[in-house]
Amino acid sequence: MPIRDILRLGHPALRTPASSVGDTDLQSDEIQILVDDMLETMRSAGGVGLAAPQIGVSLQLFVYLAVDVDRPREDAEEKVLINPAVEPEAGEPVYDWEGCLSIPDLRGLVPRPQAVRVHALDREGSKLEFRATDYEARIIQHEFDHLNGIVFVDRMRDLRSLAFSAEWERYMTEGDEPPVESEAAAEAG
Ligand code: NI
Repeated sequence: MPIRDILRLGHPALRTPASSVGDTDLQSDEIQILVDDMLETMRSAGGVGLAAPQIGVSLQLFVYLAVDVDRPREDAEEKVLINPAVEPEAGEPVYDWEGCLSIPDLRGLVPRPQAVRVHALDREGSKLEFRATDYEARIIQHEFDHLNGIVFVDRMRDLRSLAFSAEWERYMTEGDEPPVESEAAAEAG
């Protein structure tokens, strides 16, 4: 399965809202190959999520790892969401660190709703409806933003927390979880 190139901030594809995936396309080999390639590309880059626009495909589709902080990342379930709708639940926003495979080596503090309700299709076209909280909810919101041409920096309230990963690790972490779409060891993060 080929690993695709991940576009970096500045590429117009990252600022272009994606089109929904049509019913007939959903069962096509093309979409299935795309999903497999995206999962492979995400894993190879050490990320926990990847949206189709990040590899230059303008479709409402993203993959992510349902990471549980208490279990190794290798055990995390791979999820595929197609044509997702993401509704935040009411409540105080929660701040946490994020990174992005399209904005390599940078981290920033991003406020997000703590929980979301998700409606989407899986890769077989079956309807999914579920609630996600905490880290999973953050990953979903980050990837969903990519489908609308939005990146995490747009969501930051205070750009003073923006940091390169080495400086972030040195000065800004106090036993925090690894930021979304990155891990400390992966320079591609
Ligand atoms: Ni991203």
